[in-house]
Amino acid sequence: MPANVDARTTIDIAHYRRVLGHFPSGVTVVASEDGEGPVGFACQAFSALSLDPPLVLFSVGHTSTTWPRIEATGRFCVNFLAADHEQLCRTFAVSGGDKFAGVAWRRSELGSPILAGAHGWVDCTIEATYPGGDHTIVVGRVHGLDADGESTPLIFHKGAFG
Ligand SMILES: Cc1cc2nc3c(=O)[nH]c(=O)nc-3n(C[C@H](O)[C@H](O)[C@H](O)COP(=O)(O)O)c2cc1C
Repeated sequence: MPANVDARTTIDIAHYRRVLGHFPSGVTVVASEDGEGPVGFACQAFSALSLDPPLVLFSVGHTSTTWPRIEATGRFCVNFLAADHEQLCRTFAVSGGDKFAGVAWRRSELGSPILAGAHGWVDCTIEATYPGGDHTIVVGRVHGLDADGESTPLIFHKGAFG
């Protein structure tokens, strides 16, 4: 670390949220299925990572009640939400409950949920996890993926859908 940098610098959380919210992104639902049924959560912190081998990553908060269930399955499918999925996204952003009630989906080859009308999806096994502050960084190995090529994506920017 440069000598003139104070390692203890604190950043105001509201300011952090406001500024980082200026970075527009798509929104995904990361989902899997265990013995109790399908589980998933809305996730903006998703990215491509590596072509060879094919890897993607997302980060999940330590408070997520969904992640331990997904982790236990060893696999997940990342669903890119389409523009008409705004209400679906809100459902998957609420902690707990049966988020899949009334939601149409099918199983991927690995057995994870692909949501009806997904703009795209990436079917993965869990390759590695790393600590990332109050989140866990999850690296997935891609086994299958597709995109519908027709729909438009759901975009999240400055705390609003667009
Ligand atoms: C647009 C949007 C993006 C989100 N992105 C993330 C994210 O990247 N990582 C995360 O852990 N939570 C994210 N959340 C919050 C989670 O969806 C929420 O905390 C989660 O549904 C918790 O549910 P659970 O306890 O059932 O896992 C996001 C929420 C919204 C509305």
